[in-house]
Amino acid sequence: MSRFISFEGIDGAGKSTHIESLAERLRERGSEVVMTREPGGTPLAEKLREQVLHQPMDALTEALLVFAARRDHIQLVIAPALARGATVLCDRFTDATFAYQGAGRGFDTAVLATLETWVQQGLQPDLTFWFDLPAETAAERRAAARTPDRFEQLDAAFFNRVRSGYEARCRQSPQRFARIDAALPREQVWAQVEAQLEQRGW
Ligand code: TYD
Repeated sequence: MSRFISFEGIDGAGKSTHIESLAERLRERGSEVVMTREPGGTPLAEKLREQVLHQPMDALTEALLVFAARRDHIQLVIAPALARGATVLCDRFTDATFAYQGAGRGFDTAVLATLETWVQQGLQPDLTFWFDLPAETAAERRAAARTPDRFEQLDAAFFNRVRSGYEARCRQSPQRFARIDAALPREQVWAQVEAQLEQRGW
């Protein structure tokens, strides 16, 4: 049975390690797992990612590039994987566009919704893990961990808006979302992820 699972949250939420653990868990149980990310996941989409993360541009250009990358990614990777029954684990998907370009940058979410319809033609993740934590906690984790990209340099006010963008998407699709309290220690975060899978018999 194919499954499409996405992972979301503000930068510094710590989702990466849990994606790895989840892939391992699903493989142990016999699933074919495709791990991928957005923006990215294909040669063209990775080139667009490079531009989006490092090249200053206006919000509409940013939204168009992210959705162009998504279109290529869906056609070349996600749809074929789902068609052969694989589980796709995607590090960020369209909720990130609503959260970062929409809520964060203040770009018109009605335009994003139109692009979403054009590009995805009804495709949505079956499950979205939203790793939620306060912007300040995430900033402390980021400071300890890595060199920031264009988004990671933005201030707490920006990440608070991104967080409320995720919250709004979660309210719109409560069935699809699993909110994870990502401020807790790593083992407790993983326990919440596992509980969600067990609840679904995955
Ligand atoms: P991220 O997924 O956090 O990767 P890494 O762990 O390598 O830093 O970084 C991707 C960045 O792209 C993140 O800051 C959010 C941003 N982004 C958008 O602004 N819009 C989008 O639609 C997507 C998918 C990501």
